[in-house]
Amino acid sequence: MSKRHVLSIAGVNKTFGGLKALTDINLNIEEGKTHAIIGPNGAGKSTLLNTCIGRLKPDNGTITFEGTDLTGGNMTPHGINQLGVSRVFQTPEIFPDLTLLQNVMIPAFAKRDGAFSFNIFKGLREEKQLRDEAMHLLEDFEMQNLAHVHAGSLSRGNKRRLELAMCLIQHPKLLLLDEPTAGMARHDTNRTIDLLKKIKERGMTKVIIEHDMHVVFSLADRISVLAQGAIIAEGTPDEIKGHPKVREAYLGTAEI
Ligand SMILES: Nc1ncnc2c1ncn2[C@@H]1O[C@H](COP(=O)(O)OP(=O)(O)O)[C@@H](O)[C@H]1O
Ligand SMILES: [Mg+2]
Repeated sequence: MSKRHVLSIAGVNKTFGGLKALTDINLNIEEGKTHAIIGPNGAGKSTLLNTCIGRLKPDNGTITFEGTDLTGGNMTPHGINQLGVSRVFQTPEIFPDLTLLQNVMIPAFAKRDGAFSFNIFKGLREEKQLRDEAMHLLEDFEMQNLAHVHAGSLSRGNKRRLELAMCLIQHPKLLLLDEPTAGMARHDTNRTIDLLKKIKERGMTKVIIEHDMHVVFSLADRISVLAQGAIIAEGTPDEIKGHPKVREAYLGTAEI
């Protein structure tokens, strides 16, 4: 059976001044799979994700999402989002003065209508269906009791989960997660792993950048290891666990 690649990264390079942040990256993300990208701080993981959502333009190479070239020059981050790519950022990007329910509803309007406008608030009153869906998502996330609370008052773990709900309401084909459990206590991390497993059952393709090996090995079907801007290994979790280059370059003596 032939494998379908949702996202294909081919020959991508990115430099910042004299610094080579990404060197000849080639990566194929298979449909319905969870593909983890691991690597030490500064390896280029966030830079790679930023090139996939149009926030950064690679110096050369191509990134293709479902047959569309994302690097062609006229793709905007919003255009890429409308194609079906959503991303959870390393630092939560939520609206602190709005309620959780409003936060979850806004990305659906943004995907549909484009730029934020005052019409959003008119829409917030009118779109009952969307409101119901947002509420269901909050229930899935066990945050329904907080639906009418201002998002700014949430704990860091809940802010990150809220952001994930904000992505899911867009029904993305591809979800990119940049360290979704960063800064979370173990209990919060485990709740987030359970949530991500639930999403996996829905068949969504995911790319997850993660430091926490427990998270990576709980979720990933495939792992690529990035070190100093280059992919040094790729394989199944078992292959990566036993890979000498990976142990040497990234995991050191850490027990995994
Ligand atoms: N906008 C930028 N301008 C200059 N240097 C950057 C920029 N973004 C990232 N870098 C540098 O590129 C390298 C890779 O960074 P990053 O992709 O954030 O790594 P990671 O997410 O793996 O920790 C680092 O050396 C970082 O300092
Ligand atoms: Mg990063």
